Amino acid sequence: MDHELHKLQIACAYLFSPIHARDHSFIVSLDRNMIKKAFREKAKLYHPDLHGNETEAMILKRKERFIKIKKSYEYLSQRVHDYRPTDVKQPENKPQKRPVVIAVGGAKGGIGKSLVTANLSVSLSNKGLKTVAVDLDLGGANLHLYLGKTRIKKNINDFFDKKELGISDIMEKTDFGPYLIGGDSGRLGAGNIPFARKLKLLKAIKTIDADCVVIDLGGDTSYNMLDFFLAADQGVVMTTCDPASYLDAYTFIKVALYRKLNRLFGPESDYSGETTGVLKNLIQDMTLPQNGRGVSDMNVFRAKIKQECPSGLGIVNQAISGFFPHIIVNKTNDANAAIEPVKRIQQVAKQNLTIDINHLCNLPFMTDIEKSARTLVPWVSTDSNGSFAILLDGLSKTLLSNIIL
Ligand SMILES: Nc1ncnc2c1ncn2[C@@H]1O[C@H](COP(=O)(O)OP(=O)(O)O)[C@@H](O)[C@H]1O
Ligand SMILES: [Mg+2]
Repeated sequence: MDHELHKLQIACAYLFSPIHARDHSFIVSLDRNMIKKAFREKAKLYHPDLHGNETEAMILKRKERFIKIKKSYEYLSQRVHDYRPTDVKQPENKPQKRPVVIAVGGAKGGIGKSLVTANLSVSLSNKGLKTVAVDLDLGGANLHLYLGKTRIKKNINDFFDKKELGISDIMEKTDFGPYLIGGDSGRLGAGNIPFARKLKLLKAIKTIDADCVVIDLGGDTSYNMLDFFLAADQGVVMTTCDPASYLDAYTFIKVALYRKLNRLFGPESDYSGETTGVLKNLIQDMTLPQNGRGVSDMNVFRAKIKQECPSGLGIVNQAISGFFPHIIVNKTNDANAAIEPVKRIQQVAKQNLTIDINHLCNLPFMTDIEKSARTLVPWVSTDSNGSFAILLDGLSKTLLSNIIL
């Protein structure tokens, strides 16, 4: 991609949103007032001095983010001053837009992953964003039911089987705003797609002509689920307040990070082919316990790399610090119920994995929601001004505003 355009897009993503950054007509329409206004709004959200009651880690994150926002503001202001419409050319026949991909994964079945995926998709769609909900719970696909469809015409298996079908050919409009790419688990082996098919699917998802793609994952830690989760711009991990559930959620996060490190030099990675044997071996030892030499602590792992392959430390640190999952606690009975589970997950993740986890929100248990799943109408559509819809609206805004290209 044109280097200048890429820099403009990154600055736009920080100052406006990733969706704006991918919209060529928006970039060419920018003026000083828009840039100033956006900077003021973002400064209110991210200025570290305005959030004194947060943890040190969060304040540090805010500080880093604020510096990027300020730099983006200065860069865009300068570019607008020098701007000539010919500076940024739209490559012919090549859409600039790539959808924002959000994956919803986490603990095992029954905790609300599909329900949240469906309602989040409706919420995004209600904002005027073209949204596609994708069912990648390959072994237990049922997202279509949460979006009002008892039957789907085509599904992911058709995309795999029929060469002539592109990803958009298996998309169906639902009655509630979002499009749907449904799954069918009724076929033996549906959950066990080979690596090449997975890469084909991941590539295709990023080319979907939409603003947002929301992926519903299964509740297991198979390589497929982890890779779908890692391919997203935003990874949401769901849990309930039950110890079994939040332990599951933590395990999911842990193995997802291990998988990320393990695939650091795979063909799907930005660092594809850029490894030294020493670094690769150290990562294999850390992430694959069957090698028998695994270390269970990220601090020990980092110290080992520093000692044995110092040139690789930067890549590994970047991969770890770029891993910033969000958690949603679902089916809470009261506002305080989630405090302890969230604290536990955050503490253990900080200590053992050296990562921060963002607590996105709590969603209350509501009998109306349970009923809505039976009537096949997303609750956000039925009660579009109610408390659940407001929570989901806030959730989608946070997910979109936090994205870094
Ligand atoms: N906040 C909630 N309040 C009430 N029921 C919920 C809530 N979230 C999910 N459910 C119900 O829990 C059940 C399991 O949800 P589902 O989304 O299918 O879970 P998963 O995809 O994690 O297996 C469904 O019957 C759904 O309606
Ligand atoms: Mg599900």
